[in-house]
Amino acid sequence: MKNIVILISGGGSNMAAIVNTAKRDNWAGRFGARVAAVISNKAEAKGLLFAAEHGIPTAVVSHKSFASREEFDDALAEVIDRYEQPGEPALLVLAGFMRILTPGFVNRYTGRFLNIHPSLLPAFPGLHTHQRALDAGCKVAGVTVHQVTAELDHGPILAQAVVPVLPGDTAEALAARVLTQEHLIYPRAIAELLQKQ
Ligand code: GAR
Repeated sequence: MKNIVILISGGGSNMAAIVNTAKRDNWAGRFGARVAAVISNKAEAKGLLFAAEHGIPTAVVSHKSFASREEFDDALAEVIDRYEQPGEPALLVLAGFMRILTPGFVNRYTGRFLNIHPSLLPAFPGLHTHQRALDAGCKVAGVTVHQVTAELDHGPILAQAVVPVLPGDTAEALAARVLTQEHLIYPRAIAELLQKQ
């Protein structure tokens, strides 16, 4: 089995979309792939409950327990690597994981490491993307799925979706419109990668 490990920090709606799509589209049968674990840096992340309810192993590696980014990343990698199967390529998927990862950690998973970012990269890397798009007067906004590289919110783009910015939009309204698209393109981009592996 190809193991997909998903990292979250909060609600986990993208993770849930991936889990639901994997089941609906029979990723186990079609790609020999499954969501093997959901790991959060926050014990209170709601997505952990969804994962547990769906029989997916969960773990918490709190960044607060470590003195440096390197120590946190090493502990995180140790948990992720429990789900590595020799000879089976696996995917590491960031789904609203709100920690910056060290280059050493990123390099370990390069080529099979994905992120979703709620903007049309290369525009608006980093935080507060929706408010920044509104402040810039953008007429469209959107979301990007990309390979993770050592540079934050960069790396080869795998998929994007565009939504309109509507008159009177707030950051929350725009975020909700973008999130609907996130739930469609992230599972689709992962399925395309699995098919190629
Ligand atoms: C999503 O909008 C995701 O694109 C964003 O956080 C949200 C998580 O929602 N990620 C980032 O901003 C990463 N830089 P979710 O927990 O419901 O999937």
